Amino acid sequence: MMAALWAFAGYLLGSIPFGIVITRLLGLGDLRQIGSGNIGATNVLRTGHKGAALATLLLDSGKGAIAVLLARWLGGDIAAVLAGAGAILGHCFPVWLGFRGGKGVATFLGTVIALSWPLGLMCCAIWLVAAAIFRISSLAALIAATASPLIAVAMGQSLIAAAVAFMAALVIFRHRENIERLRAGTEPRIGRKR
Ligand code: G3P
Repeated sequence: MMAALWAFAGYLLGSIPFGIVITRLLGLGDLRQIGSGNIGATNVLRTGHKGAALATLLLDSGKGAIAVLLARWLGGDIAAVLAGAGAILGHCFPVWLGFRGGKGVATFLGTVIALSWPLGLMCCAIWLVAAAIFRISSLAALIAATASPLIAVAMGQSLIAAAVAFMAALVIFRHRENIERLRAGTEPRIGRKR
């Protein structure tokens, strides 16, 4: 029962669509009609407003981190992984947007940093290096998500590895259309609309 409550609390926090909120507040248009139509920081960057993209990145990752830190403080390690998984589910399937949400990358990174900061920082570093090499946000996310459970296993963190494997699978599942575009060679580079 408590397990479901932690996951639900994480879900509610994760379901706040900061990309949509920020772009609306700044009058940048309807994010769902811009670029990929995704609600994340990569697509906010396609509005041309770098500050809005950075704010979206920080808030979307922050909501995952806060869900984990609050749950760990109040309920312990199991509560923390459940709240983190709930936050990513909330970002990907928010009730407020008819369950059509984002791809979970920023929330995943914030959640993993809060679960295990060395693992989280390694995932961020992998994303940054892959993004610098390929200049494609989704490819960097897919590489970081795939590597993260493997690194957690290598670090001997079995509970976190299991949770991160679930979260990474969700992130990869949400990138189905990106994977199609990557295979077709049509995935846009960072900052470009197409
Ligand atoms: O953070 C999501 C990113 O990996 C892909 O976003 O807008 O290019 O589909 P987008």
